[in-house]
Amino acid sequence: PDPTRIEAENATISAGVVESNHAGFSGTGFVNYDNAVGSSVEFTVNATAAGPASLKLGYANGTTVNRPMDVSVNGTTVASAVAFEGTGAWTTWTTATIPVTLVAGANKVRFTATTANGGPNVDYLQL
Ligand code: GCU
Ligand code: CA
Repeated sequence: PDPTRIEAENATISAGVVESNHAGFSGTGFVNYDNAVGSSVEFTVNATAAGPASLKLGYANGTTVNRPMDVSVNGTTVASAVAFEGTGAWTTWTTATIPVTLVAGANKVRFTATTANGGPNVDYLQL
């Protein structure tokens, strides 16, 4: 496995479940966010050096409705209601680029749903 890819099924999940019923994910599954405000997944991203990074979140949204999420890094919200638009099907996975600034070492990067629909299904975060 790619050491810079953190599978969502290995992240810290709050109000969501690991599932594997929609093909095309990497690893052993993906996180199905509970359809609720505040459901979240927190990834620990290890950066070799401090500075800007373009994280890529792998996700699918089989609806036609945006599933926005706030992005926080080490407890600070760095982007609000980032759009995760419909991808056409739950089996159609894509990536969103999330620009962040990291510290050297471990960083807690959290994606929190902001609407009652919850987040999209999330597969991985890639540094
Ligand atoms: C369906 C789908 C789930 C998805 C959910 C949703 O139940 O199978 O993977 O998470 O819709 O709307 O959030
Ligand atoms: Ca869901």
